[in-house]
Amino acid sequence: MGLVKSLRCPKCGNEAVPRTAFQCAECRSVLEIQLKIDHLTRGDFEAMRRSRDRSIWRWFDFFPLEKRSSIVSLGEGDTPLIHARRLGEKIGVANLYLKNDTVLPTGSLKDRSNSVGISVAREWGFKTAAVMSTGNAAASVAAYAAAAGIESIVMVPKGTAPSKIVQARAYGASVIVIDGDFDNEVAKLYKSALTEFGWYDCLSSNPYRDEGKKSYAYEMVDQMDGRVPDWVIHPTAGGTGIYAMWKGYKELLSLGWIERAPKLAAAQSEAAAPIVAAFEKGSTKVEAVVARETIAESIQVGNPVSLGWRALASLRESGGTAVALSDREILEGQVILARLAGVFAEPAAATSVAAAKKLRDRGVIDRDDIVVCNLTGHGLKQPDSIQVSETEFAPIAPTLNALREKIGRSPE
Ligand SMILES: Cc1ncc(COP(=O)(O)O)c(C=O)c1O
Ligand SMILES: [Zn+2]
Repeated sequence: MGLVKSLRCPKCGNEAVPRTAFQCAECRSVLEIQLKIDHLTRGDFEAMRRSRDRSIWRWFDFFPLEKRSSIVSLGEGDTPLIHARRLGEKIGVANLYLKNDTVLPTGSLKDRSNSVGISVAREWGFKTAAVMSTGNAAASVAAYAAAAGIESIVMVPKGTAPSKIVQARAYGASVIVIDGDFDNEVAKLYKSALTEFGWYDCLSSNPYRDEGKKSYAYEMVDQMDGRVPDWVIHPTAGGTGIYAMWKGYKELLSLGWIERAPKLAAAQSEAAAPIVAAFEKGSTKVEAVVARETIAESIQVGNPVSLGWRALASLRESGGTAVALSDREILEGQVILARLAGVFAEPAAATSVAAAKKLRDRGVIDRDDIVVCNLTGHGLKQPDSIQVSETEFAPIAPTLNALREKIGRSPE
């Protein structure tokens, strides 16, 4: 059974009674969940590894849920870890691995969080789950809520393209469009609405939901047969992935199931890189920035208010780094990933590949390092990121001559 041992403020050490609050009453920091895991043995680990259930729920004891009957799963987890030899050759890393989360049920990493988050909501008897988002989180919350029989409400700012929210709508979410800006008016209304209506919070301000991405650590250790990568690179916005992966690795270290943890690297778009800025300044605080437009739409977050500082601390503790990428570098990452490894990821997700290349070019990553790039969202989430000229799609006459002319090739 996944048992919560304590709920503690990581800033001032205050304890809260489990289930009563998500944030510290004093400083409003998101509380941190500590689970009772010290009784788990290596035999338990092997049993989890062998489990027929290949979802993240193989690792049930590491999640803050009391009853297995509360689980809401769509089969998330155990995503492929691909040894990408051709892509690795291109960027000069022999052991380049891709953790392909584009194949998760709703096409993004958010399913790791929301499977845990919505399971907790079901266990606690919530009727409505809410999220503010314009993309991946909305779709994921809506899907898990649908499977659980819980209503979902998605808040988006005015001007959000319908293509961004159509997936959430398909799963039956109520989409509320708000006349205001995402980081300000929408955020403010979202918070007040949670209190007013008693909805379940599916953002990173919910520490139960944040536990889900620890599954990256467990899966990687399983898939690498106990070996640990030298680097894991994660496309970063709110900071949940970096924070939770590090927490997962620390749990495995504390149990003695691994001997070391990887260095973690956060990849951000230059247009929204508050964590990189704080890392480079040597600061322990993440200052909010006004996020500019970027092709990496899903990680266009200027104010990682809940977990940014925790992610920053995790990067440092792991001996890792943070790197910002231009849109040109991100698009190049997306193209080489698709063409040399056969994985179509959205631009935000391809920042990890762009970062691997940049860190290798700078000599931060060595040629023989084992490097894992997390690929966090499917390319079909944002298909218009691939430029196709009109002439490319212009029809040709249905003749071999026209075909020869078009492809400019002789027979093989
Ligand atoms: C595709 C994609 N990658 C990465 C992230 C990063 O999120 P986090 O830093 O919270 O792990 C997000 C979500 O914001 C996302 O949608
Ligand atoms: Zn506090």
